[in-house]
Amino acid sequence: MTTVLDLSHVSVVRSGHALLDDVSWRVEADQRWVVLGPNGAGKTTLLNVASASLHPTKGTVRVLGEQLGRVDVFELRPRVGLASSATSRRLPAGEPVLDVVLTAAYGVTGRWREQYDEVDERRARAMLRDWGLEHLADRTYGSLSDGERKRTQIARAVMSDPELLLLDEPTANLDLGAREELLTLLGEYALAPEAPALVSVTHHVEEIPRNFTHALLLKDGQVAAQGPIAETVTSYNLSQLYDLPLRVTRHDGRFTAQADLV
Ligand SMILES: Nc1ncnc2c1ncn2[C@@H]1O[C@H](COP(=O)(O)OP(=O)(O)OP(=O)(O)O)[C@@H](O)[C@H]1O
Ligand SMILES: [Mg+2]
Repeated sequence: MTTVLDLSHVSVVRSGHALLDDVSWRVEADQRWVVLGPNGAGKTTLLNVASASLHPTKGTVRVLGEQLGRVDVFELRPRVGLASSATSRRLPAGEPVLDVVLTAAYGVTGRWREQYDEVDERRARAMLRDWGLEHLADRTYGSLSDGERKRTQIARAVMSDPELLLLDEPTANLDLGAREELLTLLGEYALAPEAPALVSVTHHVEEIPRNFTHALLLKDGQVAAQGPIAETVTSYNLSQLYDLPLRVTRHDGRFTAQADLV
C-alpha cells in the first residue's frame, strides 16, 4: 500500500511555542483518518503541514512520496485537496457554484478567460451530482446555506482528483439535517474505490463519518494517541484528551460521547 503522508518527529515552532511537538504520523492510501483535539491543539497546523502549505521547524515531512524542502510545492499542492474555512474564504461570493467547482481544475478561483474543456465541465457536473448540489449549479456561492457551501468546498477539493483529501471541520456550524446529510455522503465516500486517502478534523465524535478507519488525537501539539479507530476513540483516551471523565459509545458505526459524572 502507498504511504501518502509520512511525518517524522515534526515540530512547528512559532514565537517560542510549539504548535506541533514531535509529531510522527503515517497515512496509507486506503486509510480514512479523523483528527480530534481541543481548540488550539494544532489540528489546522497539522493539515497545513500535510497540504505542503507550511514547512516544519524540525523533522521531516513526506507528502505523496515527496519530501518537503526538496520538492517544488507548486507541483505537489494540486495533488492534495484541502477544504477549510481558509480555503472557503478565498471563494468569490458572486461565482456560480458550477464555476467554483470547475475552476479547481485550473487551480484558480474566479472564472475569467480560461478555456474550459467539455470534459472538465462534465466532471464538474458529476462532482455536483456526487455531493448533492446538482440543483444549485447556477446559484452564486454567496447565496448558499452553510451546509451547501461545505458540500461545494468538498466538490471543489475533489474536482482535481487529489491523491489525499484533507477536510478541516467539514461539519462545523451545520444544523442536524445538514450534518447528517454530509456525514452520510462522507461515510459512503470513505468506501468508494476511487476515493483518495482521507483526513478529516472534527471536534465531536458524533461527527466522525462511518467507515473511517483510524484516529489521531492531538493535545498541546503532541500526539496523545493514534491508531485504528476502535482502539483509539475510547472513553479512556477521550477523558485524558479533554481532562474530563467521558463515556464513549459506538453504535452502528457512529460514536457518541458524554460526561461520565457518577
Ligand atoms: N503563526 C502563529 N504564531 C503563533 N501562534 C500560532 C500561529 N498560528 C497558530 N498559532 C497558535 O497555535 C495553536 C494551534 O493552532 P491550530 O489552529 O493548529 O489549532 P486547532 O487545533 O486547529 O484549533 P481549533 O480547534 O480552534 O481550530 C493555537 O494556540 C494558535 O493560536
Ligand atoms: Mg483548527
